[in-house]
Amino acid sequence: MESIEKEIKECKRCELCKTRTNPVVGEGSLFANVMFVGEAPGYYEDLKGRPFVGKAGKVLDELLESVGWERGEVYITNVLKCRPPGNRNPATAEIKACTPYLDAQLGIIEPTVIATLGNFSLSYIFDKFGLKKDKISKMHGNVFNVNTIASIKKIIPLYHPAVATYNPEMKEVLVEDFKALTRCL
Ligand code: URA
Repeated sequence: MESIEKEIKECKRCELCKTRTNPVVGEGSLFANVMFVGEAPGYYEDLKGRPFVGKAGKVLDELLESVGWERGEVYITNVLKCRPPGNRNPATAEIKACTPYLDAQLGIIEPTVIATLGNFSLSYIFDKFGLKKDKISKMHGNVFNVNTIASIKKIIPLYHPAVATYNPEMKEVLVEDFKALTRCL
């Protein structure tokens, strides 16, 4: 992971390197069973160089706590390692340039479960494993099995924790989906 971290810190594969304050590699256990994949760093993540430390991060922390997990026992990262200006959506070319890093992280950690947070993560991970995507409203909390050469993995699509910051009712949906996540280990 150290060499990937170094590469990401020096990365100039796309224009986001010009506007970032800090790239956000990811954090957590390299032996994690569960890897959370979000979209991209936001304002606070860019400032601090850590994933999910803003409002959505607070929701993620509460969700982890609801199932008795600590940040340090899972791994948390994003599709993009640098913040898109103004938190705009990731561009296709940025995803293409950046996801070799995510692929490498998946190869190092080899999590049993990949939990996607939001649509961009869902799309990338489902395409990568050759799965067919449906609406998140139909897929959230369901477990999808994939056979890779190395292992059998499970993928669980989750809503992005930010949804609970503008629609508090969604928090309960996320809490239930996190319960489903613990059951697939
Ligand atoms: N939203 C994300 O998708 N990732 C972060 O790290 C923070 C907010």
